[in-house]
Amino acid sequence: MSCSRIVLLFVCQLTLAFLVQKAFGVSNCSNSESFAANDPYGANLMELFSNLSTQTPPTLFGQASVGQPPDQVYGLALCAAYMSSSNCQTCVEQAASESQNSCPNKKSAIVWSNWYGDCILKYSDVEFFGQVDTQNKIIYQNPNTAGNPVAFAIQTSGLLLQLSNQSSAIPALYAAGELQVYGLQKVYGMAQCTRDLAGSDCERRLLD
Ligand SMILES: *[C@@H]1O[C@H](CO)[C@@H](O)[C@H](O)[C@H]1NC(C)=O
Ligand SMILES: *[C@@H]1O[C@H](CO)[C@@H](O)[C@H](O)[C@H]1NC(C)=O
Ligand SMILES: *[C@@H]1O[C@H](CO)[C@@H](O)[C@H](O)[C@H]1NC(C)=O
Repeated sequence: MSCSRIVLLFVCQLTLAFLVQKAFGVSNCSNSESFAANDPYGANLMELFSNLSTQTPPTLFGQASVGQPPDQVYGLALCAAYMSSSNCQTCVEQAASESQNSCPNKKSAIVWSNWYGDCILKYSDVEFFGQVDTQNKIIYQNPNTAGNPVAFAIQTSGLLLQLSNQSSAIPALYAAGELQVYGLQKVYGMAQCTRDLAGSDCERRLLD
């Protein structure tokens, strides 16, 4: 029946759209001004993307600025510490392309991409290096329920305290670990900050 075929197609498109969004990531440019299509800012942004996609993979962190005021653009990219440099490059490039899909002609944006791992790309016309970002936040939720929610919360906050302390003390601003208190379930975690931050700011932010 043609009607159900149409319904099916519609459902399939919805599912596909959902999968595509899930695979490509999430962006936020809600507070950003736009630039005009022929503004030098656009070309500077493209050069920034190219710089970050070569600069980020070797150390999993990159930071660059392109152009002169008023068209200067600042940006950074961070890949999760468990990623290979080639997956990091793919992820950063994907984040750049996602930013152009979701935030075309926006002067500033942040993208969380989970393409080949997890990475963050952020750019702005206002210099933000070394500043703690308290505006942007993303939460990925595991749909499973913890067996003992109270104990799980205690375990998790204990682990995060430990990881934020450890990660703030090393230049990579990264720590991963697990914690099991007798009788409770084991929890695993990781903490990582962008390397433009001071260790103390990193720890403070992780504990927020
Ligand atoms: C950015 O890349 C361009 C070539 O695409 C290069 O000329 C420039 O030096 C790079 N700038 C930085 C800051 O890496
Ligand atoms: C998106 O950006 C706006 C403006 O900076 C901020 O208020 C909001 O909390 C951000 N949303 C997320 C999900 O990070
Ligand atoms: C981490 O914890 C230790 C004690 O366990 C403390 O001596 C140290 O100052 C802490 N590091 C930071 C950066 O807070």
